[in-house]
Amino acid sequence: MRFLITAGPTREPIDPVRYISNRSSGKMGYAIAEAALEAGHDVVLISAPVPLEPPHNAKFVSVCTSDEMFGAVHRYADGSDVCVFCAAVADYKPATVSPLKIKKRTDKISLELIPTRDILRSLGDQRNRNFLLVGFAAETDHVAQNAEKKLREKNCDIIIANDARVAMESDENELLILFRDGETKKISRAPKKFLARELIKIFQNSQQKRLTKKM
Ligand code: CTP
Repeated sequence: MRFLITAGPTREPIDPVRYISNRSSGKMGYAIAEAALEAGHDVVLISAPVPLEPPHNAKFVSVCTSDEMFGAVHRYADGSDVCVFCAAVADYKPATVSPLKIKKRTDKISLELIPTRDILRSLGDQRNRNFLLVGFAAETDHVAQNAEKKLREKNCDIIIANDARVAMESDENELLILFRDGETKKISRAPKKFLARELIKIFQNSQQKRLTKKM
């Protein structure tokens, strides 16, 4: 199968030296890419900046902003069987980017932010898509309810919910997996590399089921 995987924290520039980002390490996305390759799949890894070595044998697409990630995802999604959205995409970006460094002042300043495009949702909105669509949900509270809402609103096949406080910057995670048909599955705390292998098996099964249903 052909996998498209997004990973890492996007950077939304403020001026030539500053940006808005978040604490995502990219480790879960990279582990999923490694596990997919290990299982014999083809991988396109679209990654925001992280200090990780891209897996050998993956097609590696380096991006920085949410807009660049949006463009790269739309370039590769149609040729994919499974799209996995691990990236921590910024929800807002500065309304304008200053071409020059903003100088320090003694009074308060404020930054106007505008929403970014929701990349996962833009694929969920596509009719007759052939790929399995998998999103992540990074939550700190009401994990199951919030993830269920994302599954519905972004029209995914699977949402993988995790507690951002457990997952961020860590080598371990614990997952609650929600499927479109209402089924759920918990995987208790384990190294991300182990979880990634379990997820690949789940994605393979789900995509097989989708294809059998369509026939
Ligand atoms: N996502 C995306 N594009 C965005 C924001 C999020 O593709 N602009 C994707 C993420 O990659 C993830 C899923 O949507 O697979 C959920 O991301 P998350 O940060 O948990 O939720 P948000 O939709 O950003 O909502 P909120 O921040 O309110 O929880």
